[in-house]
Amino acid sequence: MSDFNLSLDSVARSVNSTMDKLLPAGKGPGGVLMEAIRYSALGGGKRVRPFMVIASSSLFNVDERYALRAAAAVEMVHCYSLIHDDLPAMDDDDLRRGQPTCHVKYDEATAILAGDALLTKAFEVLADKKTHPDAVVRAELVLELARAAGDEGMVGGQMLDLRAEHSTLDVPQITRLQRMKTGALIQVSCEFGAILGKATEGAHHALRGYSHDLGLAFQIVDDLLDVEGSPEEVGKQTGKDQEAGKATFVSLLGIERAREQADLLCDQAIEHLEIFAKKADPLRDLARFVVKRRA
Ligand code: IPE
Ligand code: IPE
Ligand code: MG
Ligand code: MG
Ligand code: MG
Repeated sequence: MSDFNLSLDSVARSVNSTMDKLLPAGKGPGGVLMEAIRYSALGGGKRVRPFMVIASSSLFNVDERYALRAAAAVEMVHCYSLIHDDLPAMDDDDLRRGQPTCHVKYDEATAILAGDALLTKAFEVLADKKTHPDAVVRAELVLELARAAGDEGMVGGQMLDLRAEHSTLDVPQITRLQRMKTGALIQVSCEFGAILGKATEGAHHALRGYSHDLGLAFQIVDDLLDVEGSPEEVGKQTGKDQEAGKATFVSLLGIERAREQADLLCDQAIEHLEIFAKKADPLRDLARFVVKRRA
């Protein structure tokens, strides 16, 4: 394993252990809900967003216990978004992270509720004093995650994405859609380090620039993997975007130009990190990983 893969793995273990404690297995009638939540939240995933929270927090020497709770909150929102994204009313997928999707393993109602509970739990975690002693910091985390996940962020992007199945979009329209559905959560993951670390406006600005470019690159690569990858590699069905007639960078520009675009965005993202010198190396490695990944 490369050094980067080792550190991604180490973040994944730490965040899994934090999430395991925050989402304890339940007993009684509510037990099956918690079982479904744990099935979807603890079963795999690259944990790229937690890595961003941890790596951005380390730029400002944030206490790791705070960073891990903030990372777990972002990952909970991400896991909820995947459960709902896979539902029959949305992408209608049966495979996620190499396992049957939540609604296939349980049922649709349970999957909807598992997603709802994960979303709510994320805010409970952030608002808890254990996440940061300063109430202003906690309020800012809550505000920024709400903005990133809501109608002007991920959920709004998912709505545009569903409409993209039935319309031809141009590059600016796809860019907006992807920045909302995927970029927003990636942006807030980097922003969390700056909030927890009470960073200067200059540092905030640099991280915003980095994550703005990387968020878009991330979704372009996801769309490339849908065309070039196999279910064994990526742990989800492939060829789905074309099947649904979904407008993506790949459908619009073709594989080669979409790949070029992702590489360009990766280089651009890295350029924003100059002010952090060597301390930002994990974020530089992450950007390269995002465009090179095979899953
Ligand atoms: C998949 O995200 C959904 C998108 C927003 C593109 P990831 O590729 O981060 O999925 P996991 O968490 O590793 O399964
Ligand atoms: C999903 O995009 C983005 C989310 C907000 C969940 P996709 O629908 O392309 O993600 P995958 O390919 O199913 O993981
Ligand atoms: Mg989708
Ligand atoms: Mg999908
Ligand atoms: Mg996809």
